[in-house]
Amino acid sequence: MARYVDALTSATLKNLREQWWDSEFSGFLQETLRPRPGNRILDVGCGHGTAEMGLGRLRVSQLALFAIDRNLERVAQAAAEGRSHNYRLHLAGADVTHLPFTTGAFDATFCVAVLQHVHDVPGAVRELARVTRTGGRVLAVEPDNAARYWYSSSPLGAQAFAEASRFFSAVRTVRGDSTEPAVGPRVSAIFATCGIQPVSVQLFPVSVTHIGRPPATLWQARQQAVDCALRDIADPSVVTQGRDYLRTLARYEDDASAAGANFVEIQNTMLFATVGQRTDAMVDTHDARVISQRSAATSLTVSSTDRRRSFQGAR
Ligand SMILES: C[S@@+](CC[C@H](N)C(=O)[O-])C[C@H]1O[C@@H](n2cnc3c(N)ncnc32)[C@H](O)[C@@H]1O
Repeated sequence: MARYVDALTSATLKNLREQWWDSEFSGFLQETLRPRPGNRILDVGCGHGTAEMGLGRLRVSQLALFAIDRNLERVAQAAAEGRSHNYRLHLAGADVTHLPFTTGAFDATFCVAVLQHVHDVPGAVRELARVTRTGGRVLAVEPDNAARYWYSSSPLGAQAFAEASRFFSAVRTVRGDSTEPAVGPRVSAIFATCGIQPVSVQLFPVSVTHIGRPPATLWQARQQAVDCALRDIADPSVVTQGRDYLRTLARYEDDASAAGANFVEIQNTMLFATVGQRTDAMVDTHDARVISQRSAATSLTVSSTDRRRSFQGAR
């Protein structure tokens, strides 16, 4: 399985999706979400709409695919992509913690690599639970960015990895980033507190191996990731950490070049695909009252606020 991640370029799986979303993963999504004629399915944090293209290809009759993302450019890209395939999508700009849909509106809801970027993960999961009908599926696929496997035949590789981890972590701290890098394995427990019965957790390895001297583009990408992070950092100790790490990176590249065909680097991160089922009782996101699913409306609406921001069908 050709999945890709580089710990020296990014501390999370963000922006690397194209390299690890393969046909096996698409198959898993389809089996888990079980789209049936007439179903309504919601993707939260849809990005460019990769999941929607896979689900659209199934051509399930009357399947209503909804997707939201807080990034309106990505919503527009997903809409354009949907149009180019003649898929009927319902897209909106919205935040996962305030979904513009009525309670119990969907047969299945899911998110992929989104909760790792969210500051209030329980709040987001409560919203997923709220908009899913009783008995409906909820799926969250999230990594454990804090537990990456790393091996390098060069001792400088271990040093580079340690310094990169410290540097990216310090950057997160000075930026006030309170997201949870290790959210993946915690999702099941969060589900259980939000009215979602955890059903299964499946692991997907995201890995890369370099045998022999890695290409120059990899070293450039690693260096640019640090330069880019340093651009908006003023904290002198973090700047020093970044510069020290860049020097180690340069020595690591020299060492890898000298080793030539004998060089080996192996990395792995786990994605945790947590499947759950909406139970009857749930907690309302906005006022924290326990409410009954039986009293909830099941029709779909879009709030006027979110309609103003963006709501477009791709057809
Ligand atoms: C790593 S991308 C994953 C995109 C898509 N799920 C995929 O796997 O191809 C994370 C996406 O989550 C979106 N996102 C992050 N925080 C969000 C939030 N609070 N509400 C809605 N979308 C969010 C980002 O804009 C981005 O498009």
